[in-house]
Order: sequence, then C-alpha cells, then structure tokens
Amino acid sequence: METSAQATCPFHAPSATKAGERSTSVHSHRTLKELPGPDGLPILGNILQLDLKQLHSILEQWAGTYGSIYKFRIAHKTVVAISDTDLINEVLRKRPAAYRRLESIEPVLKEMGIDGVFSAEGEQWLRQRRTAMQALNTAHLKSFFPTLMKVTERLKKRWDQATTDGASIDVPEDLMRYTIDVTSNLAFGYDVNTLEGKGDDIQRHLEKVFPMVNRRINAPFPYWHFVKLPADRALDDALVAIRKALAEFISHSREQLAQNPELATHPTNFLEAMLAARDVDGADITDEEIFGNVLTMLIGGEDSTAATMAWMLHFLTEYPDIQLRVQQELDEVLGPVNMLHDMRDAERLRYLEAVSFETMRLKSVFPILFLGTNKDVELGGVHIPEGTAIFLLTRKCGMQEREFTAADQFQPERWLASHGGQEGGHNPKAFVPFGAGPRLCPGRNLALLEMKSAMAMLFRNFSIEKMEGAKPVDEHFGFLMAPKNLAVTFRRRTQCGSQEAGRAEVLGSCSAMTVGA
Ligand code: HEM
Repeated sequence: METSAQATCPFHAPSATKAGERSTSVHSHRTLKELPGPDGLPILGNILQLDLKQLHSILEQWAGTYGSIYKFRIAHKTVVAISDTDLINEVLRKRPAAYRRLESIEPVLKEMGIDGVFSAEGEQWLRQRRTAMQALNTAHLKSFFPTLMKVTERLKKRWDQATTDGASIDVPEDLMRYTIDVTSNLAFGYDVNTLEGKGDDIQRHLEKVFPMVNRRINAPFPYWHFVKLPADRALDDALVAIRKALAEFISHSREQLAQNPELATHPTNFLEAMLAARDVDGADITDEEIFGNVLTMLIGGEDSTAATMAWMLHFLTEYPDIQLRVQQELDEVLGPVNMLHDMRDAERLRYLEAVSFETMRLKSVFPILFLGTNKDVELGGVHIPEGTAIFLLTRKCGMQEREFTAADQFQPERWLASHGGQEGGHNPKAFVPFGAGPRLCPGRNLALLEMKSAMAMLFRNFSIEKMEGAKPVDEHFGFLMAPKNLAVTFRRRTQCGSQEAGRAEVLGSCSAMTVGA
C-alpha cells in the first residue's frame, strides 16, 4: 500500500512559507514595553507566579490570555514568549546570526562540564556540529542497526524475565537504560550495558542533571555560587560519578585508536572522530571539550527518547483500540519474528510512526526552547533589543486549532492522511518537537529508529494496561517534560511470534508485572 504518511512526514516537509509570511501577530512597530503580559512585582517581576516544575503549562496558559507574543519578567530580565508558528520558525531559522541559545545556558552547562554542541555558539558550535552530524548520519545508522537489535534483545530479555518471575519493574527506568546503552554504543563505541546491570547505575546520576539545568538557567542569580542546597550537592555527586564513567568511555576509545590507526582517518563514532581530529589534525579540541560533548550526547540522547517512549505508553494505555491497531500492524509487518530484524521493516511501520508523531505533538518533551537575541531584531512587528530572552512555546504551537484540526485530541491517523500542504487543518510547520533550522536535533533519526525498535518489540510481545488505582498521569517539567505517576501493567501476548501472529491478541495466563514511576 502506498505510504501516504511519507508525504506528510513532518521532518521531510518543505519549508512551505517564508518565515513570518503568515504571522498573525505582525503589527506595525511596537516596542517591548507595548507587549502585553502578566503584571509583576517591582523587583521580582513574575518570579513568584512561576513554579518551575510547571513552567511550560503556566507559560502556555499565559499565551491563551495574552496572545502568541507576550512578555513577562524573571527579576530584572525581560522574557518574550512566542507561540506563533511562523515566528517560531523565523527565530529557529535565523540562527546563528540573529538568535542564540539563552545566554545563561552556556555558563550553567559549562560549570556542570556539559559544554558541548548543544550550548556552544559561533565557530566552536559549527565545528562540533559537523562532527555530531557525521556521527548520526543515516549511513552510520544503517551500519549501527545490528547493535540496536542487540540492545533491544536485552530489553526484551529483561522484560521476559520479569514476567516469568512476576517481578515488579520500573519501565521508565528501563527505557532510560535502553537509551543510554544505545547512545553509548553508537556515539562512543562503548557498550556500557546498563540493561544487564552494568554501568554503575549511571542512569540514576544522569536523571539528576536536567532538572538542575532548568532550575539554574531560570534562577534570578547564581545562588549556588554562595550556598549549595541539597539538590546542588546531589548534582555535584552525580557529576563526579558520571565523569568517572565517561573517563572509561574515553580511555576505551583511545585504546581502539592506538590499536587501529586507520580509525583516525575513518572514525566509526562521534568520540573517535573528536579524538582523531585532535590527535591527527592537531585540532584545537581540549579534554574539557571532549568530555563536554560526550556528556552532551549522552544527556541529549537519553532522557528525551526515554521520556517520549514513556508518553507513548501513556497514550496506548489510554486508548486500547489504538494499541490493538499498533499490534495488528506489527503482526502484519514482522510476520513470525518477535522484534525488528530488518531496517526496511522499520519503514513499513507507518501506524507506529504516526503514534510517535502524535505523541510528540501533544507531549513534546521539550515544550519550551530557551533562546535569546544576538542583536537588535524586528520580530512580528516588535522591536526586541540585543540580549533579550526569547522562550519559544513549541508544544503550544502544535496544539492550536488553526494548525491541527481537533488539536487537543490524540489522533495518530492525522499523520497517515494525505495533505495537500499546510492548509486543511494539518500544518507540519507547527510541529517542531526536534526544533528547526541549522540547529535542528541531529539525533532525530536515531531517536525515531530507537523508539520504533523498542516499541515494536514491546507491542509484538506484550499488551499493557493502566495499573488499577494508579494516580492520574501528570506532566512534570524539568527542562524536559516527562510523565509523572505513569504506572502500567504488562501482560505477555500469547502465541505471538508464531503462525498465530496477526490474529487479535489474547490476554494470556502469563504473569503480569507492575511498573511505576
Ligand atoms: C525523542 C528524542 C529527542 C528529542 C525530542 C530531541 C529534541 C531536541 C531539540 C528540541 C533540540 C534543540 C533543537 C533546536 O535548537 O532547534 C535538540 C538538539 C540536540 N539534540 Fe536532540 N532530541 C532527541 C534525541 C536526541 C538524540 C538521540 C541525540 C543524540 C544521540 C540528540 C542530540 C542532540 C544534540 C547534540 C543537539 C544540539 C544540536 C545543536 O545545538 O546544534 N537528540 N534535540
């Protein structure tokens, strides 16, 4: 069957309009002062109204009240919040010249030792970006596919064992182990194998990082330079443990390079490419930069992909009929095998892909992108001075009725229908979970493949249900938005992997396992 989803794939959608072309908020010149926004206090601004764990939903609600471009204050700093599709695309595409990441991001991440391609600006960013793009390109992903299968097989074994034992397991944590193992294998050529209990529980240390990034970049001043709260001390301990693990990745890579000098000219992963660039070309890459980038990749690739999969599980327990359709597609595409073994099959899993897009539209794990201006700019008819913070409310953008019909509904089918363009209640430009423009997420293809592989294995072999008595699932923001209170029960599907595949699934007599977060 023709895959109409291909035609509507948002990541291949042409950038149909020029930035700003159909902006609703273009008015004749206004100054920052004239922008609407919530009233604040004299020195503190709106800080007391901003619960950082709900930052995204507060800013989204304000967009409902004050419109698609408004302002608020964090102490003396003015922030412009934008949810208009064209303005968001304009800002993202006019980087690096006119816009940059929020100024506080670089020092905060640098202090944590995470100064890599995500926080870098200018020449340094450009150089690191090239290496990151090479490491994550499609050709590299193809050759990486067998390793992805190996890691998915481990996840399956872990869940098979748990169902056999009737053991309770923590799925969000397992998904994190999975993404750490995938990223470290792909980006560093190192099999940390947290799924089989190795790697010193690095996932527990990594999960402390994002919430502290959120707290620190939005702090009115760097309080932690004067007093360390328990969370700051816990972060310090986590960073020591993470650095210890990274040192092992790096020394392993150095050994590989020493043993196989040809790797210097044909590096097989991100870490080798950086080490080789320094050792062979004498490029000006410091140890700190290597550490910073290794950590950037690990953090960038791990939590985001794991949290997106956790949101998929949430929706598939909410809508059992959609789960059944995912399973039917898997039975059809995979035939007798119980997980993805061929990359071409990944492309045939159109419905599963549509479920992942729809999940990212409603539960984008990065609902806010924190940027700032590099110079004075005109945006949507507003004059914005150099050094102003710009928060892009990217999730809100894709949840507007004028961009997607029935915008608040979970409807994966919308990604399968053929759409003539951005009109007709389906505007792919309003869907930017991976950002856009020159700094578009370089890991998006890996993330999509990784999610397909894990979800295909999960729903080919198991069915999931909401755990009885579980609290409602909430959005929890800490730079990244993850589900809170996700608790589901797994049941092994009977007869899967045999000629029975393809028939409606039966909830078998196998043991159920309980998972929670
Ligand atoms: C579902 C999973 C993921 C989501 C939703 C996601 C989302 C994002 C977003 C929104 C950005 C900012 C883009 C912009 O500024 O325009 C970003 C940047 C980045 N992501 Fe991802 N990402 C995911 C997975 C990954 C993976 C698997 C990797 C690598 C292993 C990765 C590596 C990066 C890097 C290095 C950057 C910085 C790019 C730059 O500043 O030039 N991400 N990602």
